[in-house]
Amino acid sequence: MDWGITNRLARIIRPETGRTVMLAVDHGYFLGPIHRLERPAETILPLLPHADALMLTRGVLRACIPPEVDKPMVLRVSGGVSVVGPALSDEGLTVAMEDAVRLNASAVAISIFVGTDHERQSLLGLTDLVDTGNAIGMPVLAVTAVGKELAKRDARYLSLSCRIAAELGAHFVKTYYCEGFEKVTSSCPVPCVIAGGPKLETEMDAFRMTRDALEQGAVGVDMGRNIWQHDHALAMIQAVRAIVHAKATIAEAKDIFDGIAGRGRATKARARKR
Ligand code: 5RP
Repeated sequence: MDWGITNRLARIIRPETGRTVMLAVDHGYFLGPIHRLERPAETILPLLPHADALMLTRGVLRACIPPEVDKPMVLRVSGGVSVVGPALSDEGLTVAMEDAVRLNASAVAISIFVGTDHERQSLLGLTDLVDTGNAIGMPVLAVTAVGKELAKRDARYLSLSCRIAAELGAHFVKTYYCEGFEKVTSSCPVPCVIAGGPKLETEMDAFRMTRDALEQGAVGVDMGRNIWQHDHALAMIQAVRAIVHAKATIAEAKDIFDGIAGRGRATKARARKR
């Protein structure tokens, strides 16, 4: 890989551990003001110190993130559809590479929709982006979207999508965790990060998913709702970070979470005495 691409990627996937905690906050590009991202800056800025990178749209980047912030930005550059429109898979490119460079992005992200009516268009969008990314030194993250069809989150489908993304030149891939996830990572020759998906019932579920994905070959997370839709978002991101970078067990992650969320043993004992 060219020096520029390698250098930008190394800002995202931390060389010290070979892992990353990306904070995904791009949901508004098709969902509008999703719960707890209604005022993006209020949600994002407190979490930012604990993330290795932010995944977002250029609109939120320009409007809500101070330009002094020293964090790599992964810019979503696909979209053009909405959750109330006819087909979530009918995305196109929404940002010119020139604007991504102007914004000093560290990578650009595009969704691919394997197996849908718009498969070809999304895959050719990926290859166009890889061509312009390679020409300019910009890594491309392919997101293996499943839209509303959650049934597609199995190892057979996700390994097909991730492998196609890598074959077409994506520099790294974002996908979902699934049963048999090792099949997905082992057949994908570029790094994989996992999305968190819809908010899980408990924080332990999110910790378990993170640990299992890492043990089965993921290089980290690009997590959104399971962090910022939680009542204790700051505790969530720090606990997930400990699993990713410090190899914390899920019990240790829970202790970190409880301590920061004020649910620790000492805090509970103090509360009982009052
Ligand atoms: C939407 C995305 C989101 O960034 C992705 O789904 C990650 O967020 P979450 O952890 O909430 O699933 O790429 O297409």
